[in-house]
Amino acid sequence: MQKKAKMILDKDFKISRVDKRIYGSFIEHLGRAVYDGIYEPDHKEADEMGFRKDVIELVKELKVPIVRYPGGNFVSGYNWEDGIGPKEKRPRRLELAWSSLETNQIGINEFSDWAKKANTEIMMAINLGTRGIDAARNIVEYCNIREGSYWSDLRKSHGYKEPHNIKLWNLGNEMDGPWQIGHKTADEYGRIACEAAKVMKIVDPSIELVACGSSNSSMPTFGQWEATVLEHTYDYVDYISMHTYYGNEENDIENFLAKSLDMDAFIKAVVSTADYVKAKKRSRKTINISFDEWNVWFHSRENDKKIEPWTIAPPLLEDVYTFEDALLVGCLLITLLKHADRVKIACLAQLVNVIAPIMTEKGGKAWRQTIYYPYLHASTYGRGEVLASVIDSPKYDSKDFSDVPFLESIAVINDENDELTIFAVNRDKADSMLFECELKGFENYRFVEHIVLENSDIKAANTKDNPDNVVPYSKNDCVIEDSLVRVLLPRLSWNVIRLAKSSK
Ligand code: AHR
Repeated sequence: MQKKAKMILDKDFKISRVDKRIYGSFIEHLGRAVYDGIYEPDHKEADEMGFRKDVIELVKELKVPIVRYPGGNFVSGYNWEDGIGPKEKRPRRLELAWSSLETNQIGINEFSDWAKKANTEIMMAINLGTRGIDAARNIVEYCNIREGSYWSDLRKSHGYKEPHNIKLWNLGNEMDGPWQIGHKTADEYGRIACEAAKVMKIVDPSIELVACGSSNSSMPTFGQWEATVLEHTYDYVDYISMHTYYGNEENDIENFLAKSLDMDAFIKAVVSTADYVKAKKRSRKTINISFDEWNVWFHSRENDKKIEPWTIAPPLLEDVYTFEDALLVGCLLITLLKHADRVKIACLAQLVNVIAPIMTEKGGKAWRQTIYYPYLHASTYGRGEVLASVIDSPKYDSKDFSDVPFLESIAVINDENDELTIFAVNRDKADSMLFECELKGFENYRFVEHIVLENSDIKAANTKDNPDNVVPYSKNDCVIEDSLVRVLLPRLSWNVIRLAKSSK
């Protein structure tokens, strides 16, 4: 039976301005993300530096404001100095996080060139696994100081006269995880992160720092980890990180699509913990969230066990995403927007080939995976201020969740172009849904477009040979009468309903 859901939006009731960095992404020296992903010197699309122009175009289309680099687990064993200076002198290393061979042909200088070409900025992670305070201060000096000191002059001698001016830095990666190179207890990590933060901010006081939170909410130390780390670092850092990945191993779509409720609870728990430390310290400063790894990740796990160690750019973590994955990614984007008052940075992990919206074939094509589309739409239309919506939706229970609303939705008003965009997922696998939205304070708004991503096959994917199997289309089916927007959301669909103020 067709369900009905209602949303009420008031132009004056806002959650927060969206920090554009909420649409960030991530490129790690892992698998074919860097080598044979963004960088393939022999490819016919390669530019003079070896970067694939077709990949850059797709990244630009996504309007990715910031890219986390160079890891991930990789960073905890990385000597950043291996990636600078003449390429022929750079060492080949056994890369222990992913058991691969690292050629170091791309380092911070080349990556910063790539970032400029892709219209994005860098969020740089430092190694707090095998390294520490000394390497932390040196890399900030190398990247951000103009000249007149050892590391800044070395950068100039490498051909980079201008500093890279990297403003956002991760203090290590997933240091709570036993798999991490140089894994630490919360006290051990809190102390080294505090001391590294101190020297990094002495070198460049304009930078912002992210302390490592838990690798996911199932970690046995979750909660206590955040509290202890922030007790040590509160005065020196600006954000605490969150990471999470979801899968549909049990092939249960109702439960899978409800997993954004887990993300919602996770964010609320980390915000509460950060505010608990704030209260304890009687601090006036608020620590916000950098959700610097999130995505669907499960398709490639079995295949990855078969990959030979110590090869260059092995095809690791190459999830081929289905239509249902795109729906969950849509729900996760809506959840991040709901928390735009505290989530200031978020990185879809990752960007190219490795659990990524963009795939490439060595020597061949580049194409958009299914999850590309909700990310594209949110990044394009989800700029401005998030509205505090009231939603009345029918609900269901799934294996792990109760009271899952069939409608997942959020609205963003862009004051620069007077556009109102409603993002909505219909989780109902049985039928379409009648969606009504009552607008308060939106005089003279007209319907622009209803973008829909739907598919009769929930397992449909885009591949090299069929890259446009799952693509969105635009509909003209929305009615606005007396400030009431009425539209049908197809069963299991991602929807972008665009309205704009008429000029008259
Ligand atoms: O994104 C893949 C990996 O997932 C990252 O290297 C690590 O931080 C996380 O466990």
